[in-house]
Amino acid sequence: MQKTDFQKHNRRGFMSTTAVASLAASTMVHSATAAKSELRPLRLAVIGCGGRGSGAINDSLTINDGVTLVAAADLRLENCERLFKSIAKEHPDKVDTQSTKLYSGLDGYKQILSDPDVDVVFLTTSPGFRPLMVQAAVQAGKHVFAEKPVCVDAAGYQLCKVSHELAEKNKTAIVTGTQYRRQINYIAAVEQIRKGAIGEIINITARYCTGGIWYRPRKEGMSDTEYQLTNWMHFIWLSGDQICEQAVHNIDTFNWVMGANPLSAYASGGRFTRPSDSEMWDSMSVAYEYPNGRTVSFMCRQIPGSQGLNDNVIYGTEGMCQIGAANSGSRIFDSKGTKIWEKDGKIKDAYREEHRALIESIRNETPIIELLQTADSSMVGVLGRVAAYTGKKVTWDFMTTQSTLDLFPKSLTWDGALPSKGHAVPGKTKLI
Ligand SMILES: NC(=O)c1ccc[n+]([C@@H]2O[C@H](COP(=O)([O-])OP(=O)(O)OC[C@H]3O[C@@H](n4cnc5c(N)ncnc54)[C@H](O)[C@@H]3O)[C@@H](O)[C@H]2O)c1
Repeated sequence: MQKTDFQKHNRRGFMSTTAVASLAASTMVHSATAAKSELRPLRLAVIGCGGRGSGAINDSLTINDGVTLVAAADLRLENCERLFKSIAKEHPDKVDTQSTKLYSGLDGYKQILSDPDVDVVFLTTSPGFRPLMVQAAVQAGKHVFAEKPVCVDAAGYQLCKVSHELAEKNKTAIVTGTQYRRQINYIAAVEQIRKGAIGEIINITARYCTGGIWYRPRKEGMSDTEYQLTNWMHFIWLSGDQICEQAVHNIDTFNWVMGANPLSAYASGGRFTRPSDSEMWDSMSVAYEYPNGRTVSFMCRQIPGSQGLNDNVIYGTEGMCQIGAANSGSRIFDSKGTKIWEKDGKIKDAYREEHRALIESIRNETPIIELLQTADSSMVGVLGRVAAYTGKKVTWDFMTTQSTLDLFPKSLTWDGALPSKGHAVPGKTKLI
């Protein structure tokens, strides 16, 4: 039987040194080198001591030697204390348990950024703060791990662009929490697609559908600000809605596969199950138009009791590639539907790999700076959301060069009034 182009590619792919193999090899070489030479000690601090703050610190301390957690900031001191205590239990030799550098309040992060004894900051607050904190961290000369999304509006995107440029100038590393970029089955699938395994890309279908999510009800005596910061997912200035906060993982994947940003988005969606004061929608479907006539059909949903589905399916002129989220692997099928390639990968490894890569890039003085890449993906989420909220077809060009959308409050104080704008209504919500 004559071999198809893909089989040739595929075989070559297995026999040559792939990005995945080189990733594994580089890890081995670097750990060997690291064991031999003295490691430059690096001091870590975390800003935002919730679930992900402690997860990311734990990942970094697990995968890296010569790193120590020395400081933390959070809105609430007890969250810093809880994080320090739980991380010290896991990594007793990598936490400065005598540290008094635990800061609270809206300005606590500034103490960390002005501390010369901090080398790397983990920015793991709710997303609305990310652009200004990344900028402040880069200006302070700190290396950064920034969780996704890195912006939720046009103003935040512009700030990220400026910060990316400054980081390049100052050689400041910025790794972001888009862990799938470091998951071996994702990397391998993108590599197969680049080699022509499914021919030319025609369309991608991507879905991030889950059941319900948390809601943190308002407690008596809470100001508007305290309530919104606590129940942050439900306020768009803080979360960007589900499409930015959660589905940015799929968006980042299809932007990576496409190798471009979209030209426009047209979208629909709505809300039926959110608590009445939530600004979030339940679901959104977006048709993204990419250069060269390619399209992405995207949907996201968070509805209690509904069936989850989280994947990217890439259709090409000669086949189809499925990239499933978390640990569900990647597969390629030819145009007759026969599976011709597959690869597994674990999300847990990817979560750690991003921290290995960050620390190694700092020590090697070849800083990874991926802020703009993740700002682009975050902005693709914003583009889809704005198209859905306004009911209009919206272009990338408009959102990135003309939009004045700036959701961050003009004045923010812990006890302050902060009236919610309510949820968007297509046809009424203005495109700005
Ligand atoms: N990469 C991933 O797979 C992944 C998974 C989960 C969460 N995340 C991201 O991580 C971020 C945090 O999510 P989480 O689940 O940890 O939320 P969380 O609510 O558990 O924690 C956020 C913490 O930040 C603190 N905080 C908020 N604003 C602050 C400020 N201005 N200064 C100091 N501290 C502040 C809060 O008090 C809270 O302790 C979000 O951007 C989320 O999208 C990423």
